[in-house]
Amino acid sequence: MILLGVNIDHCATLRQARYRDAVGGFVEPDPVALAERAERAGADGITVHLREDRRHIQDRDVWRLKETCATRVNLEMACTPAMTELALKLKPHAVCIVPENRSEVTTEGGLDVVAGREKVRACVLAMNAAGIEASLFIGPDEAQIELAAEIGAPVVELHTGAYANAYAGPSRAAEFQRLRIGAVRAHDLGLKVNAGHGINYVNIAEVRTLPHLNELNIGHSILSRALFTGIEEAVREMKARMNP
Ligand code: PXP
Repeated sequence: MILLGVNIDHCATLRQARYRDAVGGFVEPDPVALAERAERAGADGITVHLREDRRHIQDRDVWRLKETCATRVNLEMACTPAMTELALKLKPHAVCIVPENRSEVTTEGGLDVVAGREKVRACVLAMNAAGIEASLFIGPDEAQIELAAEIGAPVVELHTGAYANAYAGPSRAAEFQRLRIGAVRAHDLGLKVNAGHGINYVNIAEVRTLPHLNELNIGHSILSRALFTGIEEAVREMKARMNP
């Protein structure tokens, strides 16, 4: 069974749009309450990206989530000393190291492990020592995948954004093939294979056929559908399409 991590960042985006400057009192919508409902509907984990600029998820959200989450908290974070320190205090089940600055991004849009090798290695080793499962959000690029394994990351999250963007165009098959080859290579190197970015209720029919998939992290599409159906139905429907 492919696991579903529901990314709830956009719930916080909506809250911040109205209540960024509020000092307590009533605020809505609450991402932690949304997470609870997503879990009740079958989410296998909750993913949040605590950005350095705190544009959506706030520190308080991740601490509350850590307390209330019944499944797994997956913290997406930049590879910085401040975020590493925070993760080591928070001790989420998993972290996913993502690029936040242009200079950390590869052509595929994933983390450039090759360029940031020592920094990323230090972060991964710190997570390994703390028992936090670290994954690297990278494009399906052989050099990045091999280096992820070499520096000791147990998991990679393959960036499906280029494939999702190409979905209606002529390069979809080629992009899918790159993901397939990347997934096989990562698996052969002993890495767990997750994937995410731009996955929706349509392209999931193909994405789910990628080999060795452990978990998909999906945000935008599920939260968009939840506006019409509620989060429970949106999660149930995605899980049904992931594992028909
Ligand atoms: N995985 C990672 C590492 C991400 O950064 C994001 C986007 O925040 C996602 C998955 C989810 O992407 P989407 O919102 O397009 O489903």
